[in-house]
Amino acid sequence: MVNDISRRNVLGGAAAVGSMGWGSLVDPDDLTRPSRAIAQERRASRPLTAYFGTPTSRVDGRAKVTGAAKYAAEYNERGLAFGPGLAHGSVVTSSIAKGRIVRLDASEALRVAGVIAVLSHQNRPKMADTDDAYKDEIAPDGSPFRPLYNDKIMFSGQPIALVVAEDPDIARFAASLVQVDYEKDPHITDVYRQRDAATPVRSPSNPIEALFTPPKPRGSAEQALASAAVRHTGEYYVPIEHHNPMELYASTAIWDGDGKLTVYDKTQGVQNVRNYLCGVFGMKPEDVRVMSPYMGGGFGSGLRPQYQVVLAVLAARALERSVRVVLTRQQMYGIGYRPAMIQRIELGAAADGTLEAMTHEAVTVTSQYEDFHRQETGWSGLLYKCANAKYAHKLAKLDLVTSCDMRCPSGATGVYALECAMDELAVALKLDPLELRLRCYSDRDQNSDRPYSSKSLRECYRQAAEAFGWHQRNPQPRSMRDGKELVGWGMATGVWDALQMPITARISLSSNGHAEVSCATSDIGTGTYTIMTQVAADLLGLPLENISIKLGDSTLPQSPVEGGSWMAASVTNAIAEACAEVRSELLRLAKSAPASPLADAVPGDVVLVDGKIASKRDLTQAMTITDAMRQGVVERVERERTYNPQPDEKYSSNTHQAVFAEVKVDEQLGVIRVTRIVNAVAAGRIINTKTAHSQIMGAAVWGIGMALHEETLIDHSLGRIMNADFAGYHVPVNADVHDIQVIFVDEPDDIINPLGVKGLGEIGIVGVAAAIANAVYHATGKRVRDLPITLDKLSA
Ligand code: MOS
Repeated sequence: MVNDISRRNVLGGAAAVGSMGWGSLVDPDDLTRPSRAIAQERRASRPLTAYFGTPTSRVDGRAKVTGAAKYAAEYNERGLAFGPGLAHGSVVTSSIAKGRIVRLDASEALRVAGVIAVLSHQNRPKMADTDDAYKDEIAPDGSPFRPLYNDKIMFSGQPIALVVAEDPDIARFAASLVQVDYEKDPHITDVYRQRDAATPVRSPSNPIEALFTPPKPRGSAEQALASAAVRHTGEYYVPIEHHNPMELYASTAIWDGDGKLTVYDKTQGVQNVRNYLCGVFGMKPEDVRVMSPYMGGGFGSGLRPQYQVVLAVLAARALERSVRVVLTRQQMYGIGYRPAMIQRIELGAAADGTLEAMTHEAVTVTSQYEDFHRQETGWSGLLYKCANAKYAHKLAKLDLVTSCDMRCPSGATGVYALECAMDELAVALKLDPLELRLRCYSDRDQNSDRPYSSKSLRECYRQAAEAFGWHQRNPQPRSMRDGKELVGWGMATGVWDALQMPITARISLSSNGHAEVSCATSDIGTGTYTIMTQVAADLLGLPLENISIKLGDSTLPQSPVEGGSWMAASVTNAIAEACAEVRSELLRLAKSAPASPLADAVPGDVVLVDGKIASKRDLTQAMTITDAMRQGVVERVERERTYNPQPDEKYSSNTHQAVFAEVKVDEQLGVIRVTRIVNAVAAGRIINTKTAHSQIMGAAVWGIGMALHEETLIDHSLGRIMNADFAGYHVPVNADVHDIQVIFVDEPDDIINPLGVKGLGEIGIVGVAAAIANAVYHATGKRVRDLPITLDKLSA
């Protein structure tokens, strides 16, 4: 905050504003403010879009690399005013998959010096007893899991007790001493065993979830398949995968006295968690403040509140003191996962490659108590011109925790199956796989039969193919070599939604030319702080370092969870609307000046530029922000606006991708290396080409993991995950990542929203696994349809 003295100084020196000499007035503790060096990297050359579209370094980068950015488990109690200091909880989890607890004996744990309490269903404080109270913003249909609620066990790894101690190591040791006897029921954790019992999905009742309702069929797929000249049928499998963010799930619940709490939580939605806690514990919204200013990776695992926040709050309320709960890496495998998925695709085509029919059937995994799914099958019918399409999606209920969103949920998996099937169809048709996609190219959303607000997929294909050198590909499998390695080239298409959500932003512009932009959104690591700063700086006509961002605090203006790639478009358009209000108010103030240079101007005539409000037609007709506010005798102009996206019903909006991959396969050993990836994306106007590049590059790395490494393995006799750590669950490391080229295809879109932004956190991964799988086929002549493609499958 600017103090009185500095404000007076600025008000006394309007010239300083004109020369942008405000840097010394900023709050030195504000970690989100870009450093001068970063700001100077892209100093205004074009006044109206100085930052939008430029490769701007993260404004929170310095705080992150210096450790100044604190994560949920790094907050300590603010002094000792309210109690005896921070206590630490360690979670005891179930070792069986299904049944009930018949005895839970904490006496040995309680004898350990430093142990304060052991909480379980036997002695926990009161919690809500209706399903509705546990339903968060994106809860699927069903009966949400209630931590420590009763003696019932629904999955292995379920939290059953919390040991609270003065020290985290003592808590963890004592947790190992809690004795539990169970009565076991038979469990089932194998999707293949449950396949025949799977039941059709229903349209979700939750409005956000309803975005993922499966599309309607069209034409007659069976008939068209029966008469098609060329057919392909394939079954594709994606295993359970886990998110594995570097930051462990953690909550630090600070007891503020009188039943009030401040909760530092790892989450993708602070208001979602606040509302959930209010439901579970019957607290008033003003009595619980949830904070998550930084997040060390989420990828969907933090969209729903995770159980450690319930345990931390439960313990804080029971003990009336501050409590932190941090999950272990192993416990991170008990909180949700990408559902395993068996998919069957049938394609029928004419000899020239015209698609005539497609069916897409999926069986996806959820828990026994909630029906999580996305619309996994509909991507197939959306993408390519095809008169007949039919979908069937069933849920296999297993004795596991509920599955959840993981980067590009349903897109990464559904499109994997489709794009492998298209590759197989191309082989059957003796057509180049890219040529087949171009012959089936559709300028309309095939499911809803609408044109797109923009679709530059054709250009993605063209630019990526050229960068990759695709025309040099010999179509014959096993025909290309590099020494003792077989070389394979594959490609695939990607598609994802361009979603937007209602959201509110507040701008508070001070007379010294510093603006605070606030919204309860998260920044899950994608660069939200930075794009919010860029857009506000441009629209307020200020340098980057004069903008500070407040987010990740439930007391800030309304925000949905950050997910679905909807935040960039949503929050920046809210900022744009709030900035327009600020500009109008500044104009009103400026006009009140005697002989005002803007006396005749209306809001549409003026811009904010270089610390001034100026006429668009003649930028010399201007008044500094400071002078305008002095006219009105105000210290600040504050405006809050809710952006309510109202997409034009005549259009569909999606993001698209074309990805090309090269693999080299050791012929003797079967070892696969992904030596090159070209990942071309069309996602509207790109706000920040640097952070966007990082998103798409990271997504390509994850696609390598999906294709070759990642798989959560369950011992079905125990119903337990057996590779619940980084030793057993393989993700790509530096040695697995070679050349990745990212291309952004220009895609103006005046229809989707005023800024033309689509969002791109997810599109980058979609086609990668299929492109690699198709490249492995091209290298080896062996088609592996079950992910991950490991060397045993290649030699089998
Ligand atoms: Mo993303 S899977 O919507 O966090």
